Amino acid sequence: MGSLDGRVAVVTGAGRGIGREEARYLAAAGAAVVVNDPGVAPDGSGGDRSVAQQVADEIVAAGGRAVANTDSVADWSGAARVVETAVGAFGDLHVVVNNAGIERGGALGHLSEAAFDDVIAVKLKGTFAISHWAARYFRERDAAGAREDRSIINTASGSGLLNPLPTQSNYAPANAGVAAMTIVHALELGVLGVRVNCLSPSMVRTRLTAGVPGMPAAPTATGEFDPNHPAVIAPVAAYLAGADCPLTGQVLSVRGTAVTINRGWSAGETISSGTEPWTVGRLATAARELPVTDPYEDLAASLSGALGPMSAAQVRALVAAQVG
Ligand SMILES: NC(=O)c1ccc[n+]([C@@H]2O[C@H](COP(=O)([O-])OP(=O)(O)OC[C@H]3O[C@@H](n4cnc5c(N)ncnc54)[C@H](O)[C@@H]3O)[C@@H](O)[C@H]2O)c1
Repeated sequence: MGSLDGRVAVVTGAGRGIGREEARYLAAAGAAVVVNDPGVAPDGSGGDRSVAQQVADEIVAAGGRAVANTDSVADWSGAARVVETAVGAFGDLHVVVNNAGIERGGALGHLSEAAFDDVIAVKLKGTFAISHWAARYFRERDAAGAREDRSIINTASGSGLLNPLPTQSNYAPANAGVAAMTIVHALELGVLGVRVNCLSPSMVRTRLTAGVPGMPAAPTATGEFDPNHPAVIAPVAAYLAGADCPLTGQVLSVRGTAVTINRGWSAGETISSGTEPWTVGRLATAARELPVTDPYEDLAASLSGALGPMSAAQVRALVAAQVG
């Protein structure tokens, strides 16, 4: 008996990296899985239809149930076909893992319109598109009296939540948007019995993080636990996917074995001009009371946790090298 027996799941971007491990784990736990992936390069270019098929074949060879789908989540009718594939192949849909993502970085003055649009299209619009078609199906099932636990699991990134990174004016807001959308969809779909949560992986060794400084190499000893392996995210996705999971509207960061609940933006100190409107002069004086922070120091503090001690001056120098 698996914890996901009888559940039907879609995992987007499931041909490689984190999504591949999530698809395999969900299938091993008993779910029938649609392995969605057009097999594109890390920047979204190209395509290879064998990538999704290979993962589906691996799952079937291991005794699980899976079919491949190679539509892009960024394509509106393609996203509809992903949902239709689940219902057509397995008769229902209970779990959606929105995992697909691409990266195309560059400093603001260098980043092209296409690079901005494409990253937003896969991450933010792709999450919306798949969830939209799933929500239509969930609404139909609910209207037909077939209410059961259903679960959407989105994927964000620390770049967008905790430490938006320079050169990512597409990727960081796309991920922040996914986290915001998670709350919107949890509120809307909660009335249909659908739970919506978000994972935020961190320091997972995939081709997307190949150039990230400080990424530990894979352990050489066989059988040694690897906290940076893409498989570390899968049990958390499977937990959120399970019919017994009570969570909804949560954004969980996952780094190695640490699962951290995110609190999002929170209101800090307030200054007020009372019953009179502000003037620029009075505001300039009063604003000195606000405990503002330096963004270079904030990023240095955030990166120090992952990469070891780092000063604001070092961060500024790194950024300067990329902006020029
Ligand atoms: N690796 C990390 O440390 C890390 C950190 C934070 C967030 N993430 C997020 O985790 C997710 C998975 O990333 P990964 O590191 O496994 O990367 P990856 O490149 O190994 O896997 C991503 C997969 O998504 C697929 N994909 C790309 N565009 C698609 C589209 N339009 N439709 C469907 N599939 C598409 C790719 O073909 C690829 O197989 C991404 O959303 C990424 O932003 C990863």
